[in-house]
Amino acid sequence: MAIKYSELVIEHFKNPHNVGTIDNPDAEATEGSPACGDQLTVYLKVDPETQKIEDIKFQSYGCASNIATASIITDLALGKSIEEAKKITWKQASEELGGLPPVKMHCSVLAVDALRSAIKDWEKKNLGKQFDESLTKKNVEKALQKVIYGKVGVDIISLKLVKYIGIDDENNVVIELAIGKDDSFLDDVKHEIMERMEKFDNIGSVKIALV
Ligand code: FES
Repeated sequence: MAIKYSELVIEHFKNPHNVGTIDNPDAEATEGSPACGDQLTVYLKVDPETQKIEDIKFQSYGCASNIATASIITDLALGKSIEEAKKITWKQASEELGGLPPVKMHCSVLAVDALRSAIKDWEKKNLGKQFDESLTKKNVEKALQKVIYGKVGVDIISLKLVKYIGIDDENNVVIELAIGKDDSFLDDVKHEIMERMEKFDNIGSVKIALV
């Protein structure tokens, strides 16, 4: 079945805003989507006094939805302060575009992920901020907030599909999911969870159980 896109998505895909690179950017980040393997880079120029984003560009190797969401979030971020830009969400990006098909919501997650990572890069370099990315329940939950259940286009934490997260002394992780074993989206969710868990240093085994 053909996927239906809003007119705005098609418009931003055909004529994306803020495409390209920035020479000597103040910050940049590349993120890949564990769901599809596509990549996106965001470049920032930030006024050190006001901490406002003076310029922002992106390069996408993703699909139409990804290009459209990157176009809209870079529009939203331009001229905003770092603090304001941090608050841009993938739900907001999708709403601004008149909605995305549920199976394409992860493309919006990728765009916002790259923006947030570029902001983190700026904060590390300019404010000396450190980010705790260790294997804790909180960080596992944060990572799972980016895993979209494609049937409805919402993340598995908001949908309360994650019933339990356990980490033992040897960094083995157990995640219990309330998704039916015959659900056609189960394999995608499992695959993406595994990919997201691999990003934690020193992680042991990962077991996904169904409850
Ligand atoms: Fe990969 Fe959309 S399918 S970014």
